[in-house]
Amino acid sequence: MQLKKLVVGNWKMHGLSSDIEEVREIARQASRYPEVDVALCVPAILIERAASAVRGFAIGGQDVHQAVKGAYTGSTSAEMLLDAGAVLTIVGHSERRIEQRESDCDIKAKANAALKAGLNVILCVGESLEVRDHGNSVATVLSQLAGSLPEGLASEVELAIAYEPIWAIGSGKVPTVEEIAQMHLAIRDELRARFGEAGGALRILYGGSVKSTNAAEIFDIANVDGVLVGGASLKSVDFIPIVAAAAGPIARPDS
Ligand code: PGA
Repeated sequence: MQLKKLVVGNWKMHGLSSDIEEVREIARQASRYPEVDVALCVPAILIERAASAVRGFAIGGQDVHQAVKGAYTGSTSAEMLLDAGAVLTIVGHSERRIEQRESDCDIKAKANAALKAGLNVILCVGESLEVRDHGNSVATVLSQLAGSLPEGLASEVELAIAYEPIWAIGSGKVPTVEEIAQMHLAIRDELRARFGEAGGALRILYGGSVKSTNAAEIFDIANVDGVLVGGASLKSVDFIPIVAAAAGPIARPDS
């Protein structure tokens, strides 16, 4: 099934109020590609300003707390993200799995909470280099999925999966086309097994050193329905060519 491509920027801990102009520029240029869904996940503190600056363009958070409210110093609930103007959130990014020691179980709770509140969710999985070198990458990613997929899907909001090999993030290294194809097919099979027909319609994104120079090749891989972009999403000049690549060969020369 050919799904509409989704290109999501993850600004991580980058961005000040002076960068809202860049958000505006990205949204303005992305609107030239209505055949692609585009979103930017900015630091929580910038969400409200970004969302007000670009009404109609999807702004998201990078994490969410699983509880509705309570004594969780420094955390942000799904309702708070929505209140600030976010329409989606990332959960389970490897930088949080590692630095904040988030488990599959935590991530499942976050995904459940976000979907229930009405946020679209991008759930990240991915193996370390050590795991890949031992030939266990597919088994590891499937086990992460088994532990962190939400209980069910929500009809009004979307769940997407982002496959991000940890060793490819910010490193300039990208798996081969065959490696990405193999992993995305394994994820697709798992989603079908878990959610039946609906699992075939969930978008599976690739993430890790996606750039304008490799995006077209990545989009051509079966079961790659979008990308999650870190470093190359900070500036429109780097990000928009990736959106153009998602739009397909006809739109690409226009980038
Ligand atoms: P990168 O990050 O594009 O800078 O490799 C991707 C990510 O961590 O989502």
